[in-house]
Amino acid sequence: MHMELRRGGGKPLPRQISETLAQRITSGLLAPGTQLPSVRRLAAELAVSQVTVSKAYEELEKRGLLDCRQGKGCYVANRQLRTPDEGKSWADEYGDYLPRAQLWHNFDSSAVHYSFHVAAIHSSLLPLAPVGAAMAKLVQEQPELMAEYGNFQGDLDLREVMGRHLQVRGMQVTSRDILITSGAQQGIDLVARTFIGPGDAVYMEAPGYTGAIDVFAGRGAEIIPVPVDEEGMRVDILTRLCDRRPPKLIYTNPSFQNPSGVTMSMRKRQRLLELARSYRCLIVEDDPFSDLYFHKPPPPAIKSLDGSGHVVYLKSFSKVLAPGSRIACVAAESGILSRLIAAKSSSDLGSPLLTQKAVLPFIRDEYEPHARMLRSALQRRRDKAIRLLRAYAPSGVTWNTPDGGLNLWLKLPPAADVIRLHGEAEASGISFLHGEVCYAGEAPPGHIRICYAQMWEDEMAEGLRLFLVLLAKHLRSAAE
Ligand SMILES: Cc1ncc(COP(=O)(O)O)c(C=O)c1O
Repeated sequence: MHMELRRGGGKPLPRQISETLAQRITSGLLAPGTQLPSVRRLAAELAVSQVTVSKAYEELEKRGLLDCRQGKGCYVANRQLRTPDEGKSWADEYGDYLPRAQLWHNFDSSAVHYSFHVAAIHSSLLPLAPVGAAMAKLVQEQPELMAEYGNFQGDLDLREVMGRHLQVRGMQVTSRDILITSGAQQGIDLVARTFIGPGDAVYMEAPGYTGAIDVFAGRGAEIIPVPVDEEGMRVDILTRLCDRRPPKLIYTNPSFQNPSGVTMSMRKRQRLLELARSYRCLIVEDDPFSDLYFHKPPPPAIKSLDGSGHVVYLKSFSKVLAPGSRIACVAAESGILSRLIAAKSSSDLGSPLLTQKAVLPFIRDEYEPHARMLRSALQRRRDKAIRLLRAYAPSGVTWNTPDGGLNLWLKLPPAADVIRLHGEAEASGISFLHGEVCYAGEAPPGHIRICYAQMWEDEMAEGLRLFLVLLAKHLRSAAE
């Protein structure tokens, strides 16, 4: 049984093994009743001691994920049949296929005053008035739109507008090559549901977009993390890893990556495409931030270099337009797109027609000046955030300076306990994203993501200053 283990520091080996197996069990990759290798065999395969494997199996048994019987071996438990633990309802124990989702989806943001944890843009910068007015006009003048299911692939007029939008950005696509989805998140989900099954190798940046990790993990994929440097994904490392384990899919967020902020160079974009061609696999290019650059646009989309249909391109309009509109598009080669349309139809029978019609005039006529306004507003916020970090960040804290996008990626000194810090910040009404959720495997300690775009500029600055003071206090008390 293959398993990536990190030796030398970090998480203890029994925990790494139990967490990997727990994820495979809860994702359905290891079905109830499956016999696990004996302690002796797994220890030999992983080159660890038998005590290490025994401890991992014991932990899984305690969690109700394994049934081990003397002389018979260990089997994946049928969790639905277990009686609930004291104080827990049956629903808490009911098996799910979202192994990591509980880590972040249930975050209670009602007490948050300074919101740094969501990668989004403040409502004052979004075109809510024109899109809202277009919506009101449609409801008044064409209420019959609500009586229609519409086209599974998406409204043709909007697809034509999206097609032109992508053509201007160098992509050879028309309305036929486009599917409208409910956010890029649904695009990722449709690709995963259509093309990814248990055990498939999915390569992605580490750190990477947590919403994509959840989706691929939920399909039982083996997510293989690829580190990033200042030019984006380490395609040299990816190439070596692919030699050992051919990819089914490579997911990337190449421009102003969430969370690290780095942008993939042109050279790496070309090499990535060559790699996908040679392995006959898909690249999912998730591109919500490329219009939010501060100095110069990022290199052209990988999709614009793609003559052989290896790239599924996802364009979210959540950041620039409004997350609540849930409007994004997927552009893909016809053989791939037809299957994604089938998945979309079985998922929700098409995105709401009214919303598609309401965002259309804005994307067609007003997008470019709006994007220019956003770029300068976000650059001001980024500059302010960086100035505050220089002034108030305790020594040992390091950060990136992104050339676009919404996020700062901070590395805290080893003394920081991010979980405790999260609690302390929450008690002061401040939120941030724990960096651990941006890794599919073991996360290096001490990373957090801060979004500088989701508040008024002054509010963001005040919140960041308070957070940095709180961080300094946290580190002082850790040193005592
Ligand atoms: C890289 C990336 N992809 C996809 C999404 C989800 O976008 P949408 O709101 O269009 O579903 C996000 C949201 O933060 C993101 O950062």
